[in-house]
Amino acid sequence: MRSTAKAVPGYSATAIGLHWIIALLIFAAFGLGLYMTGIPGLTPTKLKLFSWHKWLGVTIFAIAVLRVLWRATHAAPPVAAGTPAWQARAAEGAHHLLYVLILVVPITGYLYSSAAGVPVVYLGLWKMPALIGQNDELKEVLKFAHAWLNYLMAAVVVVHAAAAVKHQLIDRDGTLGRMLPFLR
Ligand code: HEM
Ligand code: HEM
Repeated sequence: MRSTAKAVPGYSATAIGLHWIIALLIFAAFGLGLYMTGIPGLTPTKLKLFSWHKWLGVTIFAIAVLRVLWRATHAAPPVAAGTPAWQARAAEGAHHLLYVLILVVPITGYLYSSAAGVPVVYLGLWKMPALIGQNDELKEVLKFAHAWLNYLMAAVVVVHAAAAVKHQLIDRDGTLGRMLPFLR
């Protein structure tokens, strides 16, 4: 079976690097987001963690833009031979949705900060522009959107990762090895 897995074409080093850098940073930003919002009151630690969260989010957005541009100019390897058409379509749909979410989630966070009237000072060095004016009604909508788009992204990632593991361990078609070459 390993020979079948080896025969499946994988992603390039750039695609793999971008995939895992973004995934790791998103896991960190997601965990930090949940943790920091759970801290009661307005402590100095909480404010520091909010800043770190925003820096992480802005960094993720910048890498996500590069990734989407890179992907738009570089095709993905063909799906494993024998993959049912519906599964290939479902995977493609999930991938498109994930590309949208890795852009839209940080955008809603940024707009939320702008609407709340709190500037983002990237790495404590560069005061980034407010994209919209302070607005209490919009602030609540954006806070809700940021949280729920995050939960949607988490749900899609869980299904996405579970599908990859299922293909690797049950179907044994080398899918996970396309993104983790040491498994090939
Ligand atoms: C992919 C990047 C990001 C991820 C994964 C992420 C994730 C999260 C999560 C899970 C929460 C907690 C939501 C809740 O349960 O209430 C949160 C809250 C928050 N995020 Fe993000 N975030 C990202 C980007 C950003 C960016 C770029 C900014 C601003 C520049 C930002 C600003 C905030 C703020 C201010 C909150 C607190 C909301 C509140 O007061 O309840 N986030 N984020
Ligand atoms: C925040 C986390 C993640 C995001 C945003 C994400 C996003 C994506 C996207 C957009 C693609 C499509 C690449 C392309 O064809 O252009 C992809 C592929 C892939 N991802 Fe993820 N991913 C995440 C986490 C994971 C995890 C945790 C695993 C494994 C446990 C995983 C395994 C894979 C595999 C195996 C592929 C290749 C699928 C195929 O060959 O059709 N990903 N991912």
